[in-house]
Amino acid sequence: MNARSALLILLGLVIGVLGTVFAMKALGDRNPMPHAVMTVMGHHMGTLGQAVKARQCDAAQANEHLLRLQSTASDIVEAFPGAEQDFVDHAGRLRTALQDAVQAHPTDCPSLAKAIKPVGEACDSCHQQYR
Ligand code: HEC
Repeated sequence: MNARSALLILLGLVIGVLGTVFAMKALGDRNPMPHAVMTVMGHHMGTLGQAVKARQCDAAQANEHLLRLQSTASDIVEAFPGAEQDFVDHAGRLRTALQDAVQAHPTDCPSLAKAIKPVGEACDSCHQQYR
């Protein structure tokens, strides 16, 4: 093998490694977790809001959506690695609001509306600052 083809092979290797590094960085920049967690919570909050608006509030369904919200909210801090303490506190307040809402066990629309009001406020207060 002459020096020229050895050089070309080496160049190919270097370009390949650089390409992999760039691809991995691009993937890292598009961490899907924050979007995924928020989209799931948006879905459950939206469904509950619609139930209230349509005046069709089923106790079992409301409970199911609240439980999904509660478990998804537990992933917020993990989904935003390196978030500051104030952000973590906002997530904690949402978890408290959800715990209260689950325990309130709303069985009709007025009680569901009352239960999700502090939850919505906890979403909004973090969005105002960090979204
Ligand atoms: C602790 C802070 C915090 C709390 C609490 C919070 N969010 Fe978010 N949310 C964010 C941030 C930050 C973004 C922007 C994420 C991004 O751009 O990657 C966001 C974005 C969103 C989005 C847009 C998602 C997207 O990427 O298109 C929706 C929907 C959403 N949140 C719903 C909710 C709901 C519903 C709640 C309450 C049940 C909630 N969030 C509570 C911080 C929070």
